[in-house]
Amino acid sequence: MPVREPVYAFDYVADPALHADVHAAYWNLKQNAPPVFWTPAHGGHWVVTSADAAIEVLRHPDRFSSKFLSIPPNPNQPKMIPESLDPPEHRPYRQLLRPYFESKAIEPLEPRIREWAERLIDAVVDQGECEFVDALGSRFPVSVFMEMFGFPLDQFDFFRATVVEYFDAQVDAQRRMELSMQILGTLTQLIEARRAEPKDDLISTLVHIDFEGRKLTQDELISIGFLMFLAGLDTVVNALAFGMRHLAHDTALRTRLIEDPAAIPAIVEELMRRYTFVSTPRYITQDTEIAGVKVYEGDSVLVPLHMVGWDEKLTECPAEVRLDRPHCRHAGFGSGIHTCLGIHLARLEMAVFYETWAKKIGHFRMREGQQLHFRGGSVQALEALHLEWDS
Ligand code: HEM
Repeated sequence: MPVREPVYAFDYVADPALHADVHAAYWNLKQNAPPVFWTPAHGGHWVVTSADAAIEVLRHPDRFSSKFLSIPPNPNQPKMIPESLDPPEHRPYRQLLRPYFESKAIEPLEPRIREWAERLIDAVVDQGECEFVDALGSRFPVSVFMEMFGFPLDQFDFFRATVVEYFDAQVDAQRRMELSMQILGTLTQLIEARRAEPKDDLISTLVHIDFEGRKLTQDELISIGFLMFLAGLDTVVNALAFGMRHLAHDTALRTRLIEDPAAIPAIVEELMRRYTFVSTPRYITQDTEIAGVKVYEGDSVLVPLHMVGWDEKLTECPAEVRLDRPHCRHAGFGSGIHTCLGIHLARLEMAVFYETWAKKIGHFRMREGQQLHFRGGSVQALEALHLEWDS
């Protein structure tokens, strides 16, 4: 068995430093760990901590496969179309889905997204305080997602409860499996209903679309729907929670947000760079090298996407949140063929949310004395964030 080195201890799920502050823990890794290292955690895997190494992995799907999107690899993992597909299988699905996620397809959703943001913020504005993740962050993307896909909105409470429990770090594997079954059941019902009677929503479109001279199979539809669920619902909430936590402390940036709505897209992007929160796994398909380090077929590598936007070679003073950068370079939405398909939707949701908050609530602060808890893993999260404002 070849020797894997250098070795450095890091548990991407359970490291206590991650639970205390995910971004501080990854920053520490960037400063102190080798650019490519082997950790014994989770059966042993590689981790990269430089932008060059991260980009090398993400841009070479021939050597670094997405077929197992977990560490350790789970051979029973259901296929996630298109995220767990490699070339050449990946491309036709990506092309099929792309038109529905391009900016010109997403822009018309803005008025409805704004209505959702207004409705949710109106419900808390007079309280002068809220637990952001529960009251807003986790509700907002669920509403947008349900409407876009065509889930009946009268099932909102049930759907949201399932979503919240599914992504809860405390839930055990057995319960998560039951919840997956529930979600798949809901998806199956929806597909069946739209097959019988199409409506103006994405599931109806996908059920009836021509894919290389045939219709998508039930398994393909479920795989796409389930991925959208995972990708769209556990991400926007985290981005907003990390962003709001930063804004609560940064009076100058908050003032800019409130006084200059034209700066909002830049604020969204810079907060995504500074608070990137996805570490994506890849499976190594041949003996090869990453940034000069020998790695082996059958190994896994974790790519913390944070490392791209935090690299001093690409970004001056990367720890600072600044709007005057000529380019905001980061890989918070991935890089290469799997770059987030929902990027325009995610950016729009975040921009509309911040703008609506700035208009309706304006300045705010964190409740004093609260102890923050973070979730590690592949998609990192802030579990709760108590905010206060003068109402
Ligand atoms: C702030 C919010 C979001 C972030 C940070 C984010 C991040 C990412 C990242 C890092 C990847 C690449 C993963 C990899 O390389 O393994 C990805 C892929 C993907 N995302 Fe997102 N995402 C967000 C929101 C969304 C939304 C709202 C949707 C759609 C409803 C979505 C749909 C997808 C899909 C379908 C893929 C797979 C693309 C492919 O494999 O070709 N994402 N996302």
